[in-house]
Formats: sequence, structure tokens, C-alpha cells
Amino acid sequence: MRDAVTGAQGILEVNNLRIERDGKALLDVPHLCLGGPGPTLILGPNGAGKSLLLRCLHGLIHPDRGRVCQNGAALNAGHKTRQAMVFQSPVLLRRSVAANLDFVLKRRSLPHAERKQRIEALLDEGGLGGKARQPARSLSGGEAQRLAILRALALGPETLFLDEPTSALDPSATQMIERMILRASERGVRIVMVTHDIGQARRLASDIVMMQAGRVVEHGKAMQVLEAPESNESRRYLDGGLVT
Ligand SMILES: Nc1ncnc2c1ncn2[C@@H]1O[C@H](COP(=O)(O)OP(=O)(O)OP(=O)(O)O)[C@@H](O)[C@H]1O
Ligand SMILES: [Mg+2]
Repeated sequence: MRDAVTGAQGILEVNNLRIERDGKALLDVPHLCLGGPGPTLILGPNGAGKSLLLRCLHGLIHPDRGRVCQNGAALNAGHKTRQAMVFQSPVLLRRSVAANLDFVLKRRSLPHAERKQRIEALLDEGGLGGKARQPARSLSGGEAQRLAILRALALGPETLFLDEPTSALDPSATQMIERMILRASERGVRIVMVTHDIGQARRLASDIVMMQAGRVVEHGKAMQVLEAPESNESRRYLDGGLVT
């Protein structure tokens, strides 16, 4: 199916998706089609279901009803190997920065010389060139998040999910990560990212999914949602009003 927003062929699609706890719907999304090509940003208040939706799209949570499809087929193990996810607080291996990347590249069965080259290119990409031998767990918050993104990119994903990757970072660390995300998007990596930062959505998003209380209240082109939101929930969220 085509994405109603971008007109592109649906890469990621959910139909009749529902997650319940104790009879209450935590997530209830009748239909959502994310076609790309630019980044999709998911916004909404705390508890809106943004992380749950991301985890469903990545196959980490199985919905009680409905399904996630990628390129027209139900999400399967093959799709999942072409997806990667970065969480708000990255968990890095107790090894050097380079070894964290090598660990992922080994899983792709790349030969040693190629892995070495790829690690150098990745470290350059993330501005971590001088830190290859440093223990990953001694990196600053911003550096650690950059390494987490590089590690996800080292998987060569078609789709990269990011759950509030810059929420704990200062403006310059945020800017570095936004550049990495935009470069990845320009190289053709499908970006689906959660943020609370409306400025960030303005800078990065091609389309925006607005959520509240487990529902998608609006999905549209970024400028349209930001400048002329159609739903009251979106308007209140963007105005900074309290949404109950
Ligand atoms: N395993 C679970 N059991 C019960 N409730 C859950 C579970 N996981 C999530 N929830 C509830 O689902 C709702 C949506 O959670 P989710 O983490 O997706 O919110 P969010 O939009 O990402 O919020 P935030 O902006 O705070 O990260 C919350 O009310 C949360 O308490
Ligand atoms: Mg969340």
C-alpha cells in the first residue's frame, strides 16, 4: 500500500495493531503506513505509546492483535536483521570503542582487513577517530550515543529506529547526532525516530506521527503537522499545552 503522506510504496505498515494490559489498550493503531524516503519523527506526550510502537515495528514486542508488515510481508527474522535500534541510554560492551564496532562487523562475517577499514570509516563518521582504543564505557554521554548509532549503522540496516537518542544531550552533542542521522537518511537508511524536541522534528522530519494515549492522532508531512496541525491533540502538544 502507498503511504498516504509521501505517496511512496509502503516500507513499514501496521494494520489493526493492538496491545492490551488488563483489558486496557496501551496501543491501538488501526492503520499506519510509513513510506519514506526522509526521516519519520514520532512525537507525543509521556506515555503516549511512542516507544511501544517503535518496539512493535522492530519486532521486539508482539502485539495482541494486528501485525506489522515490511515491504508487503509480515515482519520476519530476515526483515529484523535489516533493522537496527538505538535506545535512549545506550548499552555498550565492556570493551574498547573499536571492539564494540568490530563485534557487530564480525557478525556480518566481514574479513579482518575490511573490518579494519570499516571501523576507521565509522569512527571518522562519528567524530570518534581519536578514541578507538578507549574503553567504550568511559565515553561521555554524547560520545557513547554516537558510538551506539555507529554500531547500529555498522549492521548496514535498511531501517534505523531511534528512541529519544538525544534527550540527555547538550545542543552541540545533539547537533552532531542529528548530522549523523541526516547523512544516514541521505544514504538511503530509513529513519524512524522518537523525540520530544519539536525543534528537532522541524530540523529532521520529512513526516511526523503524532501520538496520544496509545493512538496515532495525526500523520502528515512535517511542515503541515507543525504549521497547521489537524487534530486538537497535536495543536495542544505543539503549543506546549497540557494534554490529558
Ligand atoms: N509491559 C508493560 N506493561 C504494562 N504497561 C506498559 C508496559 N509497557 C508500557 N506500558 C504502558 O504503556 C504506555 C505507553 O508506554 P510507552 O513507553 O510507549 O510511552 P512513551 O510514549 O514512549 O512515553 P515516554 O515519552 O515517557 O517515553 C505507558 O502508560 C506505559 O506505562
Ligand atoms: Mg518512550
